[in-house]
Amino acid sequence: MARLIDRDRAHVWHPATHFADLDRLPPIAVERARGCWLYEAGGRAILDAIASWWTCVHGHGHPAIVAAVREQVERLDHVMFAGFTHEPAVALAEALLAAAPPAYERVFYADCGSAAVEVALKLSYQARQQRGEPGRRRFATLRNGYHGETLGALALCGASAYRDTFAPCSSLRSSCRPRASASTSTPTSRPTSAATRPRRRPRSRRSRSTRTS
Ligand SMILES: Cc1ncc(COP(=O)(O)O)c(C=O)c1O
Repeated sequence: MARLIDRDRAHVWHPATHFADLDRLPPIAVERARGCWLYEAGGRAILDAIASWWTCVHGHGHPAIVAAVREQVERLDHVMFAGFTHEPAVALAEALLAAAPPAYERVFYADCGSAAVEVALKLSYQARQQRGEPGRRRFATLRNGYHGETLGALALCGASAYRDTFAPCSSLRSSCRPRASASTSTPTSRPTSAATRPRRRPRSRRSRSTRTS
């Protein structure tokens, strides 16, 4: 069978990645993870200094989280949330609201940051419509901000490198007017999709700490 890296190159799109970068910096094939370490198939350990938000608090494979996920999936793996509900979703909503300021009364679940931004845009837009304010169609955004990979989120990114391709598809308008110098530079907070992102220098592998196990 072909190498994993070649199969990946032939059939997979990676987010926030320009194809040209893949020649110089192919993705690292990770086989497993534990704590703050990622492990390649050969056993080499790589310190996960990226620590994506799913794992940065408790690390990879925390036994209590693994046990809770396993127990939940065995009991109820999935059911659509329109027309259905279940104890874990209601209990989490109650816990979130208990920790939130008193003005918050309800929770709407989204499955990623981009979808959360999209939901927030939709809710605030719908509220304006229903309150008889159809003219209020602009959103304030942060200069050079990045809000996600979905259409509405990209249309409202503060940086033109993210926004310009997608803003014409959306009736949403950003009230952010980047400074002339900022609007032409490539933002550093988060790159956008492979198809639209300006080319940038790939990170050096040396920046990823490694140790041999
Ligand atoms: C500020 C900000 N908003 C939204 C997102 C989108 O989150 P997700 O990648 O989970 O869709 C990101 C992701 O990097 C982000 O940094």
